[in-house]
Formats: sequence, C-alpha cells, structure tokens
Amino acid sequence: MDLSEGIATRRSVRGFKSTPVAQETLRKVLQLASCSPSYTNTQPWEVAVVSGARRDALSRILYDMASAGVPSSSETPVPALWPAELASRAGEHNARRFRVLEVERDDAAARNELRLLNYRFFGAPCVLFLFLDNTLSPWSVFDMGLFTQTLALAAHAQGLGTCLQASLTHYPDAVRDFLGLEKSKKLMLGISLGYPDPEAKLNGYQSSRVAVDNFVKWYS
Ligand SMILES: Cc1cc2nc3c(=O)[nH]c(=O)nc-3n(C[C@H](O)[C@H](O)[C@H](O)COP(=O)(O)O)c2cc1C
Repeated sequence: MDLSEGIATRRSVRGFKSTPVAQETLRKVLQLASCSPSYTNTQPWEVAVVSGARRDALSRILYDMASAGVPSSSETPVPALWPAELASRAGEHNARRFRVLEVERDDAAARNELRLLNYRFFGAPCVLFLFLDNTLSPWSVFDMGLFTQTLALAAHAQGLGTCLQASLTHYPDAVRDFLGLEKSKKLMLGISLGYPDPEAKLNGYQSSRVAVDNFVKWYS
C-alpha cells in the first residue's frame, strides 16, 4: 500500500471479525510503530497487548464498571468547555454516527449501548493499552501520539483495523491491577485491533475533515 493511500484510507474501525491476529503480525506492527520519532529518541511508550481469555476477562471488568455507571477516573483531563468550533465538530461526529446506526439523537438507551461497545472492544480479538511513566512531560505525550498514529497506519497496511479509545482509560486502576502494573504507569490510551468486519453498521460511518485553509494561515 502506497503511504499516501494508507494515510488517506485509514479510519477508525468499530466492528471487528473474531479472527485472531497472529503474534508475528502484531510484532511487525509494533516494530513499525517503534520507528516513530520521539523527543531525544527517548521512546517512552510502553505497551500491553491483551488477547484470548485475558482479553475477555478484562472486557468483562471494564464493561461491568461502565454499565454500572462508575464515573471515569481517567488520568488525562478533558477541557471543562471545548472551544465552540471544536464542540461543533464533536457534535457533528456524534450525530453522524447515530445517523449511520439509524438511532435518534435523544434515544438515551441507544446512546448508552453505543458507549458500552467501547468496553467490548467493538468485538476486536486484541486490545492494546499504552502507558507512560507518570514523571514524564507533555513532550512524551506528543511522542505517544506519534507512536499511536504510526501503529494505526502499520496495522492498516497489514489489513488490520484499529480504534483508538480514550474510553478505555476511564478505569486505570482496574486495568493496571489486571495487568499487574504499578501506579506510576499512566494509562494513556486503549486501542482495539483486529480484522475489520465490513458488515458492521458502524463501519459505514466515515468522519469528515475541515479544509486545509480552515486551519492554515499562509505567510510569504
Ligand atoms: C485520543 C483519541 C481518543 C479517541 N477515543 C475514542 C473512543 O473512546 N471511542 C471511539 O469510538 N473513538 C475514539 N476515537 C476515534 C475518533 O473518534 C476518530 O479518530 C475521529 O472521529 C476521526 O475519525 P477517523 O479515525 O475514522 O478518521 C479517539 C481518537 C483519538 C485520537
């Protein structure tokens, strides 16, 4: 796959086949992700790959917490108020997803179902959790973003789909306890990974982008 084509055709996948992903394939994706640049080549990313019975058990723990309404204790804050333009993009994103699912916007039960799918990892056979040491600065968060995008593209090049999920950071203590990790490892992101299910309704949704001239000022 040509690089530009790969970048343009990657999208979040929210419906996966149950087909397992070979460890060799995962290793290749992770090796490519590790080619990402980082601040003074510090390569701060730490990754837990969870599949099989342990994936099912972790999904159950997170799903039960989310469906019981346990409030998020994500270690990455969200703004109290998004700037209006960004809030409107988020609103449009949610509205379009509901349209694809043929769900009414004010249907609270359907919205909740959609939210909870995150904790089923959208059916993916594999889920990755990304951690950073909690002494690190926003530069390392920047590095983690680069690593994440490279990983998503490398997976895409292997015919795999990914969904990057802030929702999988909502219960960091539960994830760390399950994986036997120390509190000093900050949970940055969860990524569901597997082979996309073309029949899944949610995969019919494609996000939009603002035009280049909306976010660039040219100086010459
Ligand atoms: C940091 C981050 C967190 C995200 N969290 C979630 C999430 O919890 N659940 C979800 O379904 N999608 C999540 N997404 C996916 C975004 O909704 C998606 O990237 C965006 O709508 C653009 O669509 P695309 O990835 O298909 O191009 C997240 C993406 C990023 C970068």
